[in-house]
Amino acid sequence: MYKHFIRPLLFNFDPEDVHYFTFSMIRKISKIPGMSLLFQKMYGVNDSRLEREVFGLKFKNPVGLAAGFDKDAKLYKELSNFGFGFIEIGTLTPKGQEGNPKKRLFRLKEDQAIINRMGFNNGGVLEAVARLKNNNGVLIGGNIGKNKATPNEDAVLDYEICFDALYDYVDYFVVNVSSPNTPNLRALQDKEPLQQLLQTLQNKNNLKSKPKPILLKIAPDLSNEQLLDIIDIINSTKIAGVIATNTTLSREGLISENKSEMGGLSGKPLAKRATEVIRFLSEKSNRSFPIIGVGGIHSAQDAIEKLEAGASLVQLYTGFIYEGPALVKAINKAILAKV
Ligand code: FNR
Repeated sequence: MYKHFIRPLLFNFDPEDVHYFTFSMIRKISKIPGMSLLFQKMYGVNDSRLEREVFGLKFKNPVGLAAGFDKDAKLYKELSNFGFGFIEIGTLTPKGQEGNPKKRLFRLKEDQAIINRMGFNNGGVLEAVARLKNNNGVLIGGNIGKNKATPNEDAVLDYEICFDALYDYVDYFVVNVSSPNTPNLRALQDKEPLQQLLQTLQNKNNLKSKPKPILLKIAPDLSNEQLLDIIDIINSTKIAGVIATNTTLSREGLISENKSEMGGLSGKPLAKRATEVIRFLSEKSNRSFPIIGVGGIHSAQDAIEKLEAGASLVQLYTGFIYEGPALVKAINKAILAKV
């Protein structure tokens, strides 16, 4: 239904307009009595064999919605009805910010990909906190970043502000230093600043009576040497794990005419590299920390490949846009078929 009727219609319009339109439609439709339950029945797969315990949290299934789709925690309850085991909100920054000028989101149809240069548009962490207070059981990841106006030398404070504000309302944290759309953000992936950032957050975390898992989200464009540094840093700071990967700056193999737009590329062309990063981290670390695998999952087989490469959980974004919610169900069914 989605691929044959809804998607062809939606893909005629500007991608960012479609995003907000779809958002408001999902919200409106979900308010109709019985619809949330119907979506759960249509797309949910309830089976105890899908349950996972990862970094001390219980996931009802290993398929999550990746960061960036519900940045402001406006729709996480409704989205969870489409069968996701968890929803990652954000990236959130301390203060609300507009993000980059429009147009900043591009569909590369022939490549089944997206280029975005949104630039952390969000309403600020406190608005999201207010919405999360009404959560009734959706497992939430809180993805945090820094404001564009904050220089890198003060970045740690931005992450601390977001960490403190969200602490009571999310199940795990994601430190995002890998978006290509905030100038210089990726420099925080360098060994010294990264070590300092993660250690500061982990120290703060350790003062809590119940510390929460902190994960690091990395770019697919890191070299093997940088990935080895990441493993060292995770082992020394003892954070809970990694999300691999964010969008890429690579444009290799693309055929769509708008392939040269600036920003981060997601979707099918990212799949191979993201899986390589997962496999490398998993093997070189002797599986010493869990990995959430994300990047180019457009089919159940794509998700299985990420799990077989060493991911404990997977997430989708672009595949959800191209394939619709049936993809979540297909992945969960395929995982069950392998049990
Ligand atoms: C993203 N992604 C993202 N990631 C993140 O950590 N914080 C963010 O705010 C965003 N925002 C965002 C916006 C848009 C429009 C897209 C397409 C993606 C990256 C996303 O979570 C994921 O890591 C990549 O898109 C790779 O997965 P897919 O899309 O290939 O399944």
